[in-house]
Amino acid sequence: MMYVILLGGPGAGKGTQAVGLASELHVAHVASGDLFRRNLGEGTPLGLEAKTYMDKGELVPDELTVRMVLNRLEDPDCQQGAVLDGFPRTLGQAQALDTALLAVDKSIGAVLHIKVSEEELIRRLSGRWICRECQSPYHMISSPPKEMGRCDRCSGDLYQRDDDTEATSRRRVQVYNNQTAPLISYYQEQGSLIEIDGEQPIDGVGQQMANSLKAVSGRGASL
Ligand code: AP5
Ligand code: MG
Ligand code: ZN
Repeated sequence: MMYVILLGGPGAGKGTQAVGLASELHVAHVASGDLFRRNLGEGTPLGLEAKTYMDKGELVPDELTVRMVLNRLEDPDCQQGAVLDGFPRTLGQAQALDTALLAVDKSIGAVLHIKVSEEELIRRLSGRWICRECQSPYHMISSPPKEMGRCDRCSGDLYQRDDDTEATSRRRVQVYNNQTAPLISYYQEQGSLIEIDGEQPIDGVGQQMANSLKAVSGRGASL
């Protein structure tokens, strides 16, 4: 059983690391932001409502977010665990997740806190391009695709997110500091927090995550 939470500011590298980590652990990748964007692409009422918050860099209300993610966690591919990317983001979401997992006799194995300075977060978001098909993130300077505008993994088109403008990115960092950073001490108190240096090259961050998870499972904890 492996439920791993990736905690970190906007642009910290959650999506970048989540894909590889989920495949290494043989579990699903559940990204709340991707779920909202998929709903928006399909024009569902949930997607349209979420967009009004996302465009401003604000959080979508807990009521909508919790219901969407907990529903997703009931899917068959999440029964052996999941890498949670961007959820939970408030104390209310964290408590709802703990309660839902407890009800089915499961728990969080580890919370990886990816630490990156605010200026580096803004730099990363302003140069980011994302695949429209598989959501893989690229960066113009740190992680460019082999062919301009095209995804290395699936040849999908690359695009820039509407909320990656400098003003909205700065608001997202503020919202992270106010509403999500309190989760660091919440999970520290539960004994599940692991600090990851997010300012290493992408491979180094992945390696530190894999080593930390090995150390946790080596201590006999059920991840
Ligand atoms: P969401 O989609 O989750 O966005 P976010 O948290 O702002 O995070 P990002 O996806 O921007 O960053 P990331 O950490 O995934 O970074 P990435 O790997 O792409 O949420 C969007 C919105 O949806 C929210 O604002 C909110 O409105 C709503 N929402 C979502 N979840 C919610 C929730 N639970 N509750 C309420 N509302 C919610 O990397 C960024 C860039 O850096 C890329 O270009 C990448 O190539 C590059 N990069 C990555 N790692 C490195 C490295 N080590 N070195 C150099 N460059 C790197
Ligand atoms: Mg992301
Ligand atoms: Zn792709």
